[in-house]
Amino acid sequence: MAAAGYLLNNRTYYNPDLGEEVIEILNDFEKPYRFHKSLDEYCPTPLIEIPHLSELLGINKILIKDEGQRFGTSALKILGASYAVYQEINHSKSIKGICTATDGNHGRAVAWACKKNGLESVVFVPYQTSVSRIRFIEEEGAKVIVSKGHYDQAVKEAAAYAEENNITLLQDTSWTNYHRIPSTITSGYYTEMHEVSEQTNKLMKPAIDVVFIQAGVGSWPSAIVHFIRKYLNNQKVKIVCVEPYESDAIYESVKRASLATTRKSQKTIMAGLNCGTPSYIAFEILKQGVDAFLTISDEYAIDAIKYLNAPLPGDPYVAAGESGSAGLAALLAIIRNKNIGMLKKQLGITKESNILVFNTENVTDPDLHYQLLSDK
Ligand SMILES: Cc1ncc(COP(=O)(O)O)c(C=O)c1O
Repeated sequence: MAAAGYLLNNRTYYNPDLGEEVIEILNDFEKPYRFHKSLDEYCPTPLIEIPHLSELLGINKILIKDEGQRFGTSALKILGASYAVYQEINHSKSIKGICTATDGNHGRAVAWACKKNGLESVVFVPYQTSVSRIRFIEEEGAKVIVSKGHYDQAVKEAAAYAEENNITLLQDTSWTNYHRIPSTITSGYYTEMHEVSEQTNKLMKPAIDVVFIQAGVGSWPSAIVHFIRKYLNNQKVKIVCVEPYESDAIYESVKRASLATTRKSQKTIMAGLNCGTPSYIAFEILKQGVDAFLTISDEYAIDAIKYLNAPLPGDPYVAAGESGSAGLAALLAIIRNKNIGMLKKQLGITKESNILVFNTENVTDPDLHYQLLSDK
């Protein structure tokens, strides 16, 4: 049966305590946008309306920021990786190569950015990574190494490999004494929010009431939160952080009030969100800036994919992967799952509400995707 759970967060003030270096990087909101706009590949991604599904769900407007075509790499992760590779090249002119670990999209993005800059890349993936995800990373020119374990283990192996081979670890998660690069990656994601801000007149037209953001290690959603709470200084919009029910590292950390590892099975089709332990920088931001932490089981992601891929008559087609569809999936769960029905009321969602979700990836695992679509 479809499962879901949530924790409400009574936010008081927004002022994450992350140290000077991290805050300086995170508060540089304009530079990543200038950098991305200077690239030949740059083109803002669309903000799409799905009027008939909105009506069916009893919502005024559902807006989808669709990242499926970002720089031709199929996922938003390219924004963080491309900016961080550029900054690392500026930081160290003698950079030899780059190593990272990934659930799929970040690694493919790092490989893309390395190829563009003539750098070698080595990408570690968790042991259960699908053949098509590995192939997409290799097609960008990276050497792929399959880890012995889940995502956290792959990160450890990538860090050890980088040290042994004297190459740069470009990881999108942070830990003690590893924070400059993950903060830079996070700030690279601001470009997406600059675009949303222009497309909605700073979230005022239409006035956005609730934003759903899906989390893996939390770096991308923390960029969205920091942009909204700090740069736009908007404390009113409700922000909901969404994770797979079976991979709930941030939810578990919030429950324990300190950084924790998921105790669940880590079996989920939402591969991009399947991380064992959150990024500590991201966790500091999310726990101050998010209004509710939600976990949803795979059934909701499948439903969301089906709505986006086989839309109601008159709604646009959106090619969305399993992790990409998780924001819409969360809204479906809140509306349909009686166990968490109260959350709809607590977030103030009514038929007047305008809701922003992000399709953070295109179809990034075609074999799984078409199997899910053909299952009854
Ligand atoms: C498609 C997609 N959406 C969302 C995320 C979440 O980003 P983060 O791991 O920074 O929380 C990821 C992470 O890889 C992803 O691949």
